[in-house]
Amino acid sequence: MASSEFSNAATEARPPLRLAIAGIGLVGQRHADAIAQVPDSNLCAVVDPSDAGKAVAERLCVPWFDDLHGMILAQAPDGIILSTPTKLHVDQGAACLDAGIPVLIEKPLADDLRAARTLVERAEQANVALLVGHHRRHNPLVRKAHEHINLGTIGAVRAVQASCWFYKPDSYFDEAPWRKQVGAGPISVNLVHDIDLLRHLCGEIVSVQAQVAPSARGYENEDVAAALLRFENDAIGTITVSDSIVAPWSWEMTAHEYPIYPTTSQSAYLIGGSHGSLSVPDLTLWGHNECRDWWTPISATSVPQDTSDPLINQMAHFTAVIRGEEAPLVSGREGLRSLAVVDAIQKSAKTNALVHLEAEDWDSMWVDKPTSQSEITNETNAKVAN
Ligand SMILES: NC(=O)c1ccc[n+]([C@@H]2O[C@H](COP(=O)([O-])OP(=O)(O)OC[C@H]3O[C@@H](n4cnc5c(N)ncnc54)[C@H](O)[C@@H]3O)[C@@H](O)[C@H]2O)c1
Repeated sequence: MASSEFSNAATEARPPLRLAIAGIGLVGQRHADAIAQVPDSNLCAVVDPSDAGKAVAERLCVPWFDDLHGMILAQAPDGIILSTPTKLHVDQGAACLDAGIPVLIEKPLADDLRAARTLVERAEQANVALLVGHHRRHNPLVRKAHEHINLGTIGAVRAVQASCWFYKPDSYFDEAPWRKQVGAGPISVNLVHDIDLLRHLCGEIVSVQAQVAPSARGYENEDVAAALLRFENDAIGTITVSDSIVAPWSWEMTAHEYPIYPTTSQSAYLIGGSHGSLSVPDLTLWGHNECRDWWTPISATSVPQDTSDPLINQMAHFTAVIRGEEAPLVSGREGLRSLAVVDAIQKSAKTNALVHLEAEDWDSMWVDKPTSQSEITNETNAKVAN
């Protein structure tokens, strides 16, 4: 595992934080590994009703629970990581918040935007930290890309082209059948990561127009989707996702974050600006040497980058938030905004309409508005640009 950026050199003697994980499947086990790498934090319990979950708890030598409420009563942990199937996030997140326990909820925040908003408001009213597991923002290369874009190295961002293409084997779906069901398609499971990063790097997304193709394997979700994005700064983006295309162009295969993915030297995002371009995650800057002119030489510069495991960085950040030392980098509201874009992509794909997400509407977008199919169509048709 890669090292984290978290330094323990200055940590004072203080009681370790007791963290619990609910859902110790694929990503939950990575969180357990991350906790082991963060000083001053211990895994105190695992909640997972499956036999496999019980076996993992035994292997990790921590108390096992088949129910979140029982664990909260028995252990009163300092923080909880929810890495359960997405449809459980809202109810389980509410249980953590009601107990006053800070919670890191895996992405996507929820499979329902309305419920996600209620959860975020609950956290804000209770003043209990709710973080969303968009761990890529904790990758130092993302910080570096953000820094260059903010410094104006490539000028004004005009366009972005993002790819999220890979092939998930049948066994991935057979092992956890919820992955075949409504709400767990690649738009919500995978694209939400990329949408979150594009918002972070390029600005808020104010409208989307999308198309999807149904699963060729007969699952309940799409297996290919494409969306045209407009950002509030008038930049335009295209993004496509598929869990059924064999290709090297995805964050997973290019960011070198997690050794289970083969690595390629390709990139996932091409960000084009008025004065240069940046590919991410390989962090190559492109610009003309003397003047901006397509007839003059253009050259590439590699931006030096640090490497560290974003999941460990995220866990270190979660402990700092619990201790009151840092504000959440990806708050519940940030997770909600990324979810709102994903929701708009899904609605656009269903209605064939351009869907607007007005910046001033962020707090009410798609929540206080009609949701039946015909009403959505009417609503969005009314907003279709000429
Ligand atoms: N950040 C990332 O890169 C990343 C990667 C993969 C998955 N995820 C997200 O993490 C979540 C879990 O995905 P996964 O692929 O690890 O799923 P998974 O199926 O591998 O694991 C989910 C676990 O939750 C357990 N579970 C089911 N009901 C439970 C309950 N009531 N209480 C406690 N545990 C329960 C299951 O037994 C299983 O072990 C999803 O929301 C997914 O979108 C995030």
